[in-house]
Amino acid sequence: MKITGIGRGIPDQVVTNHQLEQILDTSDDWIKSRTGISERRILTEQNLNELASNASAEALADAGLSGADIDLVLVATTMADYIFPNMASMITRHIGANCPAMDLHAACTGFLYGLQTANAYLKAGLARRVLLVGAEAISRLSDWNDRGTCILFGDGAGAVVLEEGDGLKSMHLSTQADDRVLFMHSQPGNSPYTKGHSHDKPGLTMEGQDVFRFAVSQCEKDLRTALELADMGMEEVDWVLLHQANSRIIETIKRRFNIDPKKVPSNIHRTGNTSAASIPLLLWELYHAGMLKPGQTLALSAFGAGLTSGACVMTWHKDAPKTLIPADDLLPQ
Ligand code: ACO
Repeated sequence: MKITGIGRGIPDQVVTNHQLEQILDTSDDWIKSRTGISERRILTEQNLNELASNASAEALADAGLSGADIDLVLVATTMADYIFPNMASMITRHIGANCPAMDLHAACTGFLYGLQTANAYLKAGLARRVLLVGAEAISRLSDWNDRGTCILFGDGAGAVVLEEGDGLKSMHLSTQADDRVLFMHSQPGNSPYTKGHSHDKPGLTMEGQDVFRFAVSQCEKDLRTALELADMGMEEVDWVLLHQANSRIIETIKRRFNIDPKKVPSNIHRTGNTSAASIPLLLWELYHAGMLKPGQTLALSAFGAGLTSGACVMTWHKDAPKTLIPADDLLPQ
């Protein structure tokens, strides 16, 4: 498969660390030094469907296609506006498609799981063109009284069109089952027959340091496996796109591979952790900044609740768009 179109949808509302200082016992300095985040986008009146639909329409236009050309819509999300109908179905309505549509849930690794699923459909001949969206509004899952977690996340959606091609060089996905270090209970409902399922704590719960340790060690292992499967060394990779969860995790990975920092772009300072939307949103920025050139090699890596994780190596095929945006803050100066 190869990526032939890309789009994004981001909320209008920017929330800075200084704004969080007004509602939480925290500081810009603490958040920046522990996470690298300065601000994030948070959904207010809009719903997540709108962001995902806008991202999808832009990706289709970028690929020169219409909704009727798409054979499968996949949405990686943990936070669809509805439990059902799924978000993918709502997107088919927006883009004018009637093809199969399904959501998949692998938390922050969801976009990579989506790439793998799309690739399987393309290889099996079940689809010729797949629309894959990573869309999350973790701000709506967060416990806004928990300063250790709510400061980390932002909302957004990124979409890609995937068509047959030789872009995917390798993919490695894995799971280390754990419902202790990062979890959120579903709503218990009000069944009179349900016993012992009420949950006191709202929002997601995270043992930050355990997740941190998992992230750095698993991300390193996944990248090494994906490179080995592609029969490549890190020195042959042009861009390393890491899940934007924490700039200290990103720095650690750079050090472990001794990667040239100019190959590891990051937008976490403006986005926060957007979960399954994180990698496509970063990809969108690189593409629109004219940094991606046809023939370049990309390594992608993500991790999240599950604990799921994965990495892949792919070749970029698209020319840069005609109008470029500045990219001064995507790489270290
Ligand atoms: N502002 C000020 N102080 C804070 C804040 C805050 N926002 N949050 C926590 N603190 C305090 C704590 O209360 C604690 O105080 P104490 O020492 O008096 O008890 C102190 O800071 C240290 O807290 P820790 O939780 O130990 O801080 P740590 O250095 O581990 O940083 C962090 C926390 C940033 C969450 C880090 O552990 C991390 O980034 N982990 C990885 C998280 C991650 O990547 N998640 C991605 C997956 S999310 C998903 O898949 C949905």
